[in-house]
Amino acid sequence: MQTFPDGFLWGAATAAHQIEGGNVGSDWWLKEHAPGTDISEPSGDACDSYHRYPEDMQLLADAGLNAYRFSVEWARIEPEQDMFSRAAIDHYRRMVDTARDLGLEPVVTLHHFTVPAWFDASGAWRRDDAVARFSRYVDMLEPILRDDVRWVTTINEPNIAAMLARHRDGDAELQAGTMPAPDAEVSDVLVAAHKEAVVRMRGLGIKAGWPVATQAFQAIDGGEDTLEAYAWPRERFFLDAAKGDDFVGVQAYTRTQVTPAGPLPPADGVETTLTGWEYYPHALAEGVALSRELTDDLPVMITENGIATADDARRIDYTRDSLLGLKEQMDDGADVVGYLHWSALDNYEWGSFTPTFGLIAVDRETFVRTPKPSLAWLGEVARSKGTSLG
Ligand code: BGC
Repeated sequence: MQTFPDGFLWGAATAAHQIEGGNVGSDWWLKEHAPGTDISEPSGDACDSYHRYPEDMQLLADAGLNAYRFSVEWARIEPEQDMFSRAAIDHYRRMVDTARDLGLEPVVTLHHFTVPAWFDASGAWRRDDAVARFSRYVDMLEPILRDDVRWVTTINEPNIAAMLARHRDGDAELQAGTMPAPDAEVSDVLVAAHKEAVVRMRGLGIKAGWPVATQAFQAIDGGEDTLEAYAWPRERFFLDAAKGDDFVGVQAYTRTQVTPAGPLPPADGVETTLTGWEYYPHALAEGVALSRELTDDLPVMITENGIATADDARRIDYTRDSLLGLKEQMDDGADVVGYLHWSALDNYEWGSFTPTFGLIAVDRETFVRTPKPSLAWLGEVARSKGTSLG
């Protein structure tokens, strides 16, 4: 019988650009609409969660979850350099209050892939003052966070953000499993920006960490040395940099096998998901084990884990096996504070609405929300503290 601890966070996660809609001041919006863009579908109204967030949170709470991870959007809070929007700050404060009123622990992300268009146009993380600009933005978030937020994830998946910086320069294709090395200079800047944010959060009595995209790299056919070199800049550097934080966020979806010649795409015949990734729920346990090892056993929060599928029964299978792997790690001594499923809603998957990760379906025309069986299933796992997993 599986039993998770009292106070364990059971929730779901989202990110502003993927669900809010109309994020017109962001770099992504501009890229979506740039002539000749390689982005196949624009985010548009997304899930209209900028207006419908109370309904989204209500559905999570009704199901039995007790936490919600969402991000605040820098492009809305500082739409032009040094012009801060009080209305946007009030908006996100209302989200925190709504979460609390519903009994959901808010886990707030300060930066989830998107930046304001003005920041991007002036060099983004390569600006000389990039860390100072980000820190000033973080300072302005105090009214949102003060008193009622206990957990903050600073910069989402810095390893992917640093890779996106190379894509931005047009010198890298984005492909699951064969991701180009993140830009090393940008990686260092992100660490500096993160550490500044951690200090600020601690000043507010908030626990801060950053969520790394763990990738369950596995050496095969003697690929150990190649794996070492491949995995460090893409994953391990960022876990190592988490040392000294309050916790580390673990995000896990699939695995990547590495031969002496490099990473392989999923083998022929294996089950793949709507993102083309191998169905591999054990990725979560492996991500937690590696994070413990590289962070000197920091507390872990599972900040994302999920599957893009149109088959909701398969989502339940995947999540059950992920949670059983997680429990093994906990029984082995891992201090895990929560599990936040990606994602609450079927949302904008960075270029397309087709890969559906949601516990809740969203009608693309009416925005009507329809909870899937997986939401009730995860809620029951939460209510039963894991005993319903068997
Ligand atoms: C990101 C999410 C994304 C998810 C599935 C993570 O890389 O943080 O924004 O939607 O994985 O691809």
